Amino acid sequence: MPNDGATREDDTAARRPTALVTGASAGIGAAFARECAARGFDVVLTARRRDRLEALAREIESRHGVRCQVIVADLVEPDACAQIVTALERAHLAVDLLVNNAGYAVTRSYARTSWDEQAAFLQVMVTAVCELTHRLLPGMLARGHGHIVNVSSLSAMLPGVPGHTLYAASKAFLVRFSEALAVETRGRGVHVCAVCPGMTYTEFHDVTGTRTAVEAAVPRFMWMQADEVAREGLDAVMAGRLVRVPGSANRGLERLARMLPRGLAYRLAYGATRKMRKK
Ligand SMILES: NC(=O)c1ccc[n+]([C@@H]2O[C@H](COP(=O)([O-])OP(=O)(O)OC[C@H]3O[C@@H](n4cnc5c(N)ncnc54)[C@H](OP(=O)(O)O)[C@@H]3O)[C@@H](O)[C@H]2O)c1
Repeated sequence: MPNDGATREDDTAARRPTALVTGASAGIGAAFARECAARGFDVVLTARRRDRLEALAREIESRHGVRCQVIVADLVEPDACAQIVTALERAHLAVDLLVNNAGYAVTRSYARTSWDEQAAFLQVMVTAVCELTHRLLPGMLARGHGHIVNVSSLSAMLPGVPGHTLYAASKAFLVRFSEALAVETRGRGVHVCAVCPGMTYTEFHDVTGTRTAVEAAVPRFMWMQADEVAREGLDAVMAGRLVRVPGSANRGLERLARMLPRGLAYRLAYGATRKMRKK
């Protein structure tokens, strides 16, 4: 049953592995949670919307016969990661797989967005990812096994575009962070992978209010379903990959962007995203 850190009586020696998924109340995070459960993980779901998390927990428990717990947390709060880890400890849960997935976008120009809003964005997209990883990594290293997925974005591989000013930068940070940590933990049983989805059907573009414009601008063959992203992402971290762009169309775009002269890549990226932007 979902709860906020209730103790559990399992013998840890015989326990199923546990996955913690942030941003599990919707989209790619919910898909990761379902996929983890299908692969035999007990799952801890965290996000802000309790009702969503509890409904997903019930669904996962009845469909996959694994345990699913809920920890409600707002990652914009500076003590959120510490509180999540305290709730895990109270429930005697060791995390074997961490999926740092929670995220959103700010879609106005940098100058017209308050610093409070940008600082909150960095807290959720960058600081919380680093902190949760930092708090859970020592346990993984001590146990000699663990997997960490940082959900980045294809935008990390493409030129930055106006109006999403910190978005690609924050996602590029996650790629470099993941690469460095993967090498740092190599040979110690911990695998880290940055998963870089392209356009994915989730609530992401509803939250930003850009769905109509984005769907009009990006051809259908470029879009993926969240469950496809989660499957590819988990396969990638389990296979020891450092970075994975899900979907062949997205990988093609990434390769093209690397081959193009930088100036041309900037012009194409700017032109392609102009209609999606809010002023
Ligand atoms: N969809 C795409 O096209 C796409 C492409 C590339 C990368 N991504 C990345 O994929 C990840 C998941 O996004 P999605 O597409 O699945 O979007 P989504 O459907 O909007 O889901 C976002 C999730 O993040 C959680 N979240 C947002 N702010 C939070 C906060 N302050 N504290 C805790 N949780 C928070 C939301 O839960 P609550 O609202 O309940 O808190 C929700 O569960 C993000 O990192 C996003 O940048 C998405």
